[in-house]
Amino acid sequence: MSIIIKKSSDINSSEITPKSVYLDRRRFMQQSLAGSLLFSASTLLPAWAKSPDTPHWPDLPKNPLSASDPPNSFEDITTYNNFYEFGTGKKDPHKNATAFNPRPWTITVEGECNKPGVFDLDDFIKPATLEERIYRLRCVEGWSMVIPWVGFSLADMLKGFEPNSKAKYVEFTTLLDKSRMPGQQRRVLHWPYVEGLRIDEAMNELPIMAVGLYGELLPNQNGAPIRLVVPWKYGFKSIKSIVKIRFTETMPETTWNKTAPNEYGFYSNVNPEVDHPRWSQKKERVIGRAFWEGKRETQMFNGYGEQVAHLYRGMDLRKNF
Ligand code: MTE
Repeated sequence: MSIIIKKSSDINSSEITPKSVYLDRRRFMQQSLAGSLLFSASTLLPAWAKSPDTPHWPDLPKNPLSASDPPNSFEDITTYNNFYEFGTGKKDPHKNATAFNPRPWTITVEGECNKPGVFDLDDFIKPATLEERIYRLRCVEGWSMVIPWVGFSLADMLKGFEPNSKAKYVEFTTLLDKSRMPGQQRRVLHWPYVEGLRIDEAMNELPIMAVGLYGELLPNQNGAPIRLVVPWKYGFKSIKSIVKIRFTETMPETTWNKTAPNEYGFYSNVNPEVDHPRWSQKKERVIGRAFWEGKRETQMFNGYGEQVAHLYRGMDLRKNF
């Protein structure tokens, strides 16, 4: 299939993310591959990703929309997160996702578009379209971290399917497979995990489909092999391990909205002025920051107002939370 390729920025990633970070990371990977007992390296990477043929992208162009904050460590990013398909605890995805094999992988595209179909994931991972985007992920629970993603523009991917004039929303679905995703054996959520965006949100320049982080293939616990990243929305909108994309005329029913409609709205834009019914959203705990440094003031749209505020002009963001 043909994908419209966005021209990459020619700013080199090493200009902002220190090269030493990458070199350390590569050294770390090599030691891990050699079977070193260093730290918990062998559990950070799934078995299938330890082949010498595993792709890695150490020097991708860095997208200028990236945050200027220094990224969190690889350890923070891969050992503290939410992926309920592998358990509800923050350490569970790291512990329970190691056996998951995200290859082969297909994505089914359906609904209001001219070019639906079933596509192999590798149709989308074209080195020329890949770039590094460093985004802050703000979780609705009140913590945040900065992640150096490897990915490509969601808008460019979606344009390749030629959405028609009835395509007002895009729905994304995670793999449903209880045997491979043991967390789905418990009814903690409506499975499969579903998320959605309005089509103009999806076509904005910020969202990406991520296939890696820190220049390496996406670890299982972070949503392998492909996940969405929408940096101005709370983290739960950034759905992992996507197997289906559907263009719809009506607003998709999303997992968290179905589970607790008064707590999780469809929009879920980061907004310090609108509290979650059970806690404030004014501040965030920055993972990796010492407790005496205190919390960070949460920014409207997670700091991306310039790129997205116009999408909500005239809307009451308290009603459309
Ligand atoms: N996607 C799926 N399929 N299942 C999940 O449980 N958790 C969400 C989101 N995507 C989740 C998911 C939540 S609550 C957050 S905060 C982010 O993933 C965490 O992403 P991270 O691993 O990059 O920190």
